[in-house]
Amino acid sequence: MENEGNEQLDMLPKKSLLVLYSYHHHNTEKVAKMIAPVLCAEIKWPEDVNPEELKEYDLIGFGSGIYGGIHHKTLLKLADKLPETTDKKVFIFSASAGGEKSITIKAHSALRKKLQSKGYMIVDEFQCRGFLGKIGLGISRGHPDAQDLKNAEEFAQNLIKAKKDANS
Ligand SMILES: Cc1cc2nc3c(=O)[nH]c(=O)nc-3n(C[C@H](O)[C@H](O)[C@H](O)COP(=O)(O)O)c2cc1C
Repeated sequence: MENEGNEQLDMLPKKSLLVLYSYHHHNTEKVAKMIAPVLCAEIKWPEDVNPEELKEYDLIGFGSGIYGGIHHKTLLKLADKLPETTDKKVFIFSASAGGEKSITIKAHSALRKKLQSKGYMIVDEFQCRGFLGKIGLGISRGHPDAQDLKNAEEFAQNLIKAKKDANS
């Protein structure tokens, strides 16, 4: 989806993409579906992304659940294959059972390091709780909830606002 030629959309990135992996309860997919419309972003699974095609986008979000303390391996493998860049803006997101910022900052570090090592500029990160488990008590039941999803939407709006502020 390209946003060229519409004055009202001037502050939007011209072409944005979310690279998403989500399977357990599709928690991260729910988050991505709040972020994508705000940024007019496409959503693609890592296996459907040709690393070279990422050059076409000027804002890319990478997100998945947190599994064993890190993002999904398909996302990390894609990060290994990305072309080097100097100014490409990216952001990271996740839904995890832990969810809190202090825990997730660490869980994001593997993906963050890979992206930074290729020269990608991480403009922001989003995390929220995501239900873990199928039956019984589980952890973070009910998440992402309405507030988490609202936070995700506001996160995306703030990405645009940050761009606007930088331009003024
Ligand atoms: C195999 C597996 C490992 C997980 N490991 C962690 C973990 O290390 N830390 C954490 O906070 N949550 C962990 N979780 C919970 C997931 O991060 C959480 O359920 C997430 O929302 C799943 O995202 P998804 O529904 O988009 O796949 C794990 C879940 C699964 C299925």
